[in-house]
Amino acid sequence: MGLLRRAPLLLLVAFVATATGARGDAPPPLPGPAPQQRAPGFDAAADNRACEGCHTAIAAEWRGSLHHRAWDDPVFLTAYSIEPIAFCRGCHVPEAEPDSMPPAGARRLGVGCVTCHVQDGHVTGSHAVAARVGAHAVVADARAATSAACERCHQFAFPEPQRAPMQGTADEHRASPHAAESCESCHMPLLQDQPGRAHRSHDFRVLGDTARLRSALTARASRADDHVVTLSLAAARVGHAFPTGDMFRRLEVRARAVDATGTTVATAPPVVLARRFGRNRAARVQIGDDRLPASGAAREVALVFADPVSAREVRWEVVYQRLDATMARAFGVDASADEVVVAEGALRPGKSRP
Ligand code: HEC
Ligand code: HEC
Ligand code: HEC
Ligand code: HEC
Ligand code: HEC
Repeated sequence: MGLLRRAPLLLLVAFVATATGARGDAPPPLPGPAPQQRAPGFDAAADNRACEGCHTAIAAEWRGSLHHRAWDDPVFLTAYSIEPIAFCRGCHVPEAEPDSMPPAGARRLGVGCVTCHVQDGHVTGSHAVAARVGAHAVVADARAATSAACERCHQFAFPEPQRAPMQGTADEHRASPHAAESCESCHMPLLQDQPGRAHRSHDFRVLGDTARLRSALTARASRADDHVVTLSLAAARVGHAFPTGDMFRRLEVRARAVDATGTTVATAPPVVLARRFGRNRAARVQIGDDRLPASGAAREVALVFADPVSAREVRWEVVYQRLDATMARAFGVDASADEVVVAEGALRPGKSRP
């Protein structure tokens, strides 16, 4: 492994530089999009295989994550085929030069161990570890355990001039009551390997994690009048808007009236909460955002039935979707497989509250 062989040399260099006070004030770059500042001959795929060989539990989690599949993700690849530009490659295959088609090794790697942990040729972590037989040195970077380690990829503007970010998770986080909790404190929980040994989870799982998605909101239903059921929805244990991240993520709010046997007799048109985009000449602009805001402020959603439903039980649900059904069909993916009911309930027959 190149990295381990180079490590003693780098340590020496760092020591000499510190001793002479010559080590500039510039901190090493934080993890982020390509191009990485790599030394000539750096082989990201080979070094990453070495990390995986020793840190086996973390590696297994990472291999199941969307970070590892950032390129080999059919939803990404379809979107990318419409807009195959260097800008996209920067984050979805960060260990390759963005200006040309990425080599297979970097594509398979996606966002690797090395992307987040190897800066300036050193393994970095939140605290220092001295080099010893069987282990490398770890250079301390206090920012490694903070939101700064995520921001360069999770907060960014559209490639064309625009008024809203393409993804704004870090700004949303700053506006959240959970701003003092780092991204890692929610997304990398400490897992116990065995008594006395724990590690931070590296699966970063949200899609497919029903419990996590359900923890993100509170919902209260009431009857507004004979035709209308109102849901009051608010972001809860979530450190940003719900949903956040990719521009396609959405919530669909549904309600239906049922008879005494539970058979649906009427359905209200569903209401979608998402970011909405339009175009102003060549530029993509955000024209609306009705997601649940990071502040935790409640959003009132009215579900309107064509006929009175006060004599009926009304069942409602809030569904998280990775993309809408039309887009999923166009992308050739099974959207229902990623659809998660995040809140649900029923209102007994009866009049609205006074
Ligand atoms: C030869 C085995 C080996 C290889 C290869 C290896 N590590 Fe480690 N690493 C260790 C050991 C042993 C420790 C000491 C702490 C421990 O036991 O987990 C460690 C510590 C760490 C720490 C700090 C852990 C802490 O407690 O703060 C990080 C971060 C880390 N390694 C990342 C990496 C990355 C990234 C790579 C690949 C570039 C890598 N390691 C390659 C064995 C290895
Ligand atoms: C600055 C980094 C960055 C750039 C540049 C970027 N992305 Fe992403 N992309 C992300 C992150 C971070 C996510 C994950 C957000 C989430 O899970 O909601 C993501 C998610 C996606 C998804 C959703 C994938 C899924 O599994 O559902 C698609 C599609 C996508 N990106 C396409 C693109 C395209 C096309 C481009 C170029 C026009 C691009 N991205 C440029 C960082 C980036
Ligand atoms: C080098 C860029 C990069 C960095 C740094 C980065 N991410 Fe990501 N992240 C991505 C990309 C790209 C995706 C989406 C891949 C896809 O779906 O195609 C993603 C996806 C995710 C997801 C969604 C996974 C899912 O199952 O839906 C979470 C959560 C996440 N990242 C959290 C973090 C956190 C927390 C940090 C900081 C510790 C971080 N990321 C650092 C690029 C990055
Ligand atoms: C998206 C960024 C990201 C990726 C990818 C990533 N890590 Fe981490 N890793 C972190 C962050 C953030 C921490 C917590 C900060 C800290 O304690 O240094 C961390 C902590 C660690 C630790 C410290 C011990 C612990 O578990 O608490 C080790 C060891 C480690 N990572 C190894 C790896 C290895 C090996 C891989 C690849 C299989 C990997 N990481 C991939 C961001 C990442
Ligand atoms: C208080 C806990 C908490 C904090 C802090 C937090 N998150 Fe989340 N995150 C969640 C929960 C819960 C979800 C699932 C609900 C959702 O998608 O918004 C989530 C979802 C996500 C997703 C997946 C979005 C999607 O639908 O694909 C990404 C990406 C993400 N978070 C990134 C981050 C980043 C980056 C930070 C720091 C800037 C951060 N989160 C801070 C709790 C948190």
